[in-house]
Amino acid sequence: MGVPGVVTHRLVNCVNMPQLIQRCGLRAFVETGILDGDGIAVALHYGFSRVFSCDIARECIEKAQRRFTNTNVCLSLGDSREFIRQMAAQVEGPALFWLDAHFPDHAAGDVGEFPLPDELATLRARKGVERDVIICDDMRCIPGDDNPTLIPRTHPDIAANPDRFIQKGLTLKMLWGPFADSHDVYLINEETGVLLLVPRGTAYRGHFRWRILRRPRMIRLH
Ligand SMILES: C[S@@+](CC[C@H](N)C(=O)[O-])C[C@H]1O[C@@H](n2cnc3c(N)ncnc32)[C@H](O)[C@@H]1O
Repeated sequence: MGVPGVVTHRLVNCVNMPQLIQRCGLRAFVETGILDGDGIAVALHYGFSRVFSCDIARECIEKAQRRFTNTNVCLSLGDSREFIRQMAAQVEGPALFWLDAHFPDHAAGDVGEFPLPDELATLRARKGVERDVIICDDMRCIPGDDNPTLIPRTHPDIAANPDRFIQKGLTLKMLWGPFADSHDVYLINEETGVLLLVPRGTAYRGHFRWRILRRPRMIRLH
């Protein structure tokens, strides 16, 4: 079943949100990067009563303010690194962190194009992080032979400037390794490539909205 007003979304298409919410007892949804507000719409659809999101672009905040009049949606203008620092300290968990402020076409100029490693480092130090679920988008930007989601350098979207898109010097393990003691790690080989960190020992069964591709869709990394 889709989400009203949302054409397509990774959290709907290839993450089993109802299962995560129920099995992990998730209480808050924290997102980096608003764009059109579809992630917020998805969170509200799945019943989150506390939704926090941020964007570096004022027009995204204003658009979301018009789209969501609910008082339980809290929007912040600014860099996601600082936002995550605040959320990590303030939000009562268990929370779902949807880290998505890093699609290079919407990059944040002088504050850096790929805030994800900094965001993860902050979350690693959060009290109670072992009960949080963390989902990171755009694994297609992370180099490495172990990454089937890596976008080919010949892809028309990036052929003109692959070095801006592909995050040289990063690996998947650099992102998930610090959570190895506390989380089970899945790589979802769909759409833009999604990294899913689920509290260790949670029985998680993937969900995929479309069944048209034959490749393995979810790989357990740890
Ligand atoms: C892929 S879109 C977000 C989509 C949204 N999370 C969803 O699920 O529908 C990325 C957004 O991140 C924002 N962004 C990029 N870098 C950022 C940064 N450093 N801090 C905050 N927002 C940033 C962009 O302005 C853009 O709106």
